[in-house]
Amino acid sequence: MKIQLRDIYKYFGPVRANDGISLEIESGVIHGLLGENGAGKTTLMKILSGYQSADRGTILLNGRPVHFRSPADAIAAGIGMLHQDPLDVPAFSALENLALGSPGGPFLNRARARRTLETLGRRFGFSLDPDAPVSSLTVGERQQLEMVRLLALGVRVIILDEPTTGISAPQKALLFQALHQLSQEGLAVIFVSHKLEEVQELCSRVTVLRQGKVAGELRAPFATDEMVSLMFGQALGTYGRRPIPLGEIILQVENLTVRSPRLELNGVHLTVRAGEVIGLAGLEGSGQRLLMLACAGLQKPHGGRIILGGQDVTGRPYTTFLRHGVAFVPAARLEEGLVPGLTLREHFALAGDTRGFLIRWDEADARAAQMIADFNIVGQADTRVEALSGGNQQRALLALLPERLRLLILEHPTRGLDIASSRWIWHRLLERRERGTAILFTSTDLDELVEYSDRIVVFSGGKMSAPLETSRVTVEELGYLIGGRGL
Ligand SMILES: Nc1ncnc2c1ncn2[C@@H]1O[C@H](COP(=O)(O)OP(=O)(O)O)[C@@H](O)[C@H]1O
Ligand SMILES: [Mg+2]
Repeated sequence: MKIQLRDIYKYFGPVRANDGISLEIESGVIHGLLGENGAGKTTLMKILSGYQSADRGTILLNGRPVHFRSPADAIAAGIGMLHQDPLDVPAFSALENLALGSPGGPFLNRARARRTLETLGRRFGFSLDPDAPVSSLTVGERQQLEMVRLLALGVRVIILDEPTTGISAPQKALLFQALHQLSQEGLAVIFVSHKLEEVQELCSRVTVLRQGKVAGELRAPFATDEMVSLMFGQALGTYGRRPIPLGEIILQVENLTVRSPRLELNGVHLTVRAGEVIGLAGLEGSGQRLLMLACAGLQKPHGGRIILGGQDVTGRPYTTFLRHGVAFVPAARLEEGLVPGLTLREHFALAGDTRGFLIRWDEADARAAQMIADFNIVGQADTRVEALSGGNQQRALLALLPERLRLLILEHPTRGLDIASSRWIWHRLLERRERGTAILFTSTDLDELVEYSDRIVVFSGGKMSAPLETSRVTVEELGYLIGGRGL
């Protein structure tokens, strides 16, 4: 089957989600649709699968124009889509979900549905319990169920929208294997993602969308730089990290106990050297934040010691930690980091040298202009910080940090940012590291932890693991530890 999308337009008010997109998809190919958040991928795929109608444009199947008024129309024509947020009915069992939408009505086909679930499941190594309620399934299992459902309905084109979000590493491996198998059996697979690595691993062709338009088309093997420049309109360069010799001990944490109303972190020992990056892994609320706050002087420990540059600062005020060159960048950029209502100029004025009581507005202006340029902030000196996008707020926070720091503590430094912004942020962080700043950071993105940390500690229920050398740990092992196994 050959699918041609011709000049597809879809506007939402002033937003040009799809701005004249043309695309061809062939059977037997895993075709990547790559683009950063907001590029228009989901919109285009919803149009192709009958969930949305285009303002203008044509869809051709084997050269013949088709008009889908509903997803059922598209499925009847052989096109099915797996959504990023599963659309199944949680109270039903896996079996009922499968029977749902199959010809003959939901409850007539239980026996047939059971067989289908078993055969198709077995073919792809999915272990789906037909009688489990869907609400008890993981995201990965729901996805497997939805795939089986679409295949049972006979689709020949399967669209997966960001399918690896929220699934485990083994489920991802299984999914990729299944997709290879499907393409070998002659199905067309459209794999929608903003993750370069996944597209590189899986696809043989890729179409890159940028701002509602096709930015380019590539065939494997893909060059990362080329993909990145198509996605973002410029080459970012590679920010590979260089190994650097570690310096003197910056931070020693000894048998630390910190309490919050809900959690006690205890028995923590950690030694951090200049230039070292330590990743704090774990589910949210497992104790990482308590350690960070204690090390930044923002929360008093109940026991143990914190030693900065050889000096015991346990229980000292936050300003003592500042004087020792410690800074904390919170995840809640607007609630804790920046001051809503104030402009960038005002932020730089307040962060500048305020000995004496006079703010030097001329200096603040110059500094704001310099930082806006240096840190690629999309905004002006008189832009209020709440009007900046998340990525630009994060850049502003980094720009506001003192030049010389011994220890930089960051909570989810790239959460919610697109790839380009994340890479850029890390580029700047690694520059500081090369100048000897030690970095502690939390992340829920295992790839980020493994990519940037020298050592990783895992938190679970108020306990911290011994540090793991990142060079010897895999994303899978990390996943198990975070799940509470082995601590
Ligand atoms: N139903 C909608 N109403 C208004 N704007 C929308 C709607 N759906 C998508 N958009 C906008 O269209 C643009 C493209 O969105 P989308 O297709 O979801 O991009 P992607 O999947 O590549 O992240 C975005 O700016 C998004 O906010
Ligand atoms: Mg999307």
